[in-house]
Amino acid sequence: MVGHDVALQAAAEQIGRAQDEKALRPSIAGFFDEATNTVSYVVHDPATCEAAIIDSVLDYEAAAGRTSYGSADRIVEYVNSHNLKVTWLIETHAHADHISAAPYLQEKLGGKLAIGAEIIRVQEVFGKLFNAGTDFERDGSQFDHLFTDGEKFNLGEIEGIALHVPGHTPADMAFIIGDAAFVGDTIFMPDFGTARADFPGGDARELFRSIRRLLSLPEDTRLFLCHDYKAPGRDEYAWETTVGQQRRENVHVKDGVSEDEFVEMRTTRDKTLAMPNLIMPSVQVNIRGGRLPEPEDNGVSYIKIPVNAV
Ligand SMILES: [Fe+2]
Repeated sequence: MVGHDVALQAAAEQIGRAQDEKALRPSIAGFFDEATNTVSYVVHDPATCEAAIIDSVLDYEAAAGRTSYGSADRIVEYVNSHNLKVTWLIETHAHADHISAAPYLQEKLGGKLAIGAEIIRVQEVFGKLFNAGTDFERDGSQFDHLFTDGEKFNLGEIEGIALHVPGHTPADMAFIIGDAAFVGDTIFMPDFGTARADFPGGDARELFRSIRRLLSLPEDTRLFLCHDYKAPGRDEYAWETTVGQQRRENVHVKDGVSEDEFVEMRTTRDKTLAMPNLIMPSVQVNIRGGRLPEPEDNGVSYIKIPVNAV
């Protein structure tokens, strides 16, 4: 499969170069947010100290409608104490379970805010749902950069490449930096399985193909996940695994599971899942690049909840 897929081939070659040469491998710190089970990452090039922040979390107390910055400030502190220079603020997708802290981090640390180019499809669907009005641009312009499949980028002297991995949402991207792949909401730890595919624009068949695409990268590619929920019998949170481990052990997509079997399992399971607690505030804010809706004439921003519409 790698041979027919130019972007994937380039990713595999990049990973190979990084595995051969330590200077092409990034340093990675994971920050786990227990409230939303999200892992944020600070990834940096040890030689130049250039850094990317992936999938940050803004703390949000839904009942009170109050935001706070404990999670984001842990990242600010890490970046400052390691003298890192943030060049990228990356979102793997428009999250439905937490609000992004990217604008807050951008103000404190700089960097370009980026997401996958298909975000415009997500903006279209949710712009309609939230009746966002004509002042809400549905062209991705809330972000500084929109990544496309196979697009290369750099983190200091370390190579990066973006892969489009739709299915959970139409816009999901995986970002491969050196030998490490940040796979967003595609696959979870082997004992937990995979992300849901039932949000508007989601597709279980597409998700399977995206995951199998990632799993055709070299066996010892390091995979970093966006979430962990533990799993029956496991007491510790975990968010790092490898392609080889997933191919041998993933309870939903290990080698031998067919696309039809996966789709049947995923669709059945998704019907039993409740919507994430923070889906309405999260999506509404994240499709705006993590910025709250424009304040009304009293200076207050409001989060809308569509009633009987989802
Ligand atoms: Fe997600």
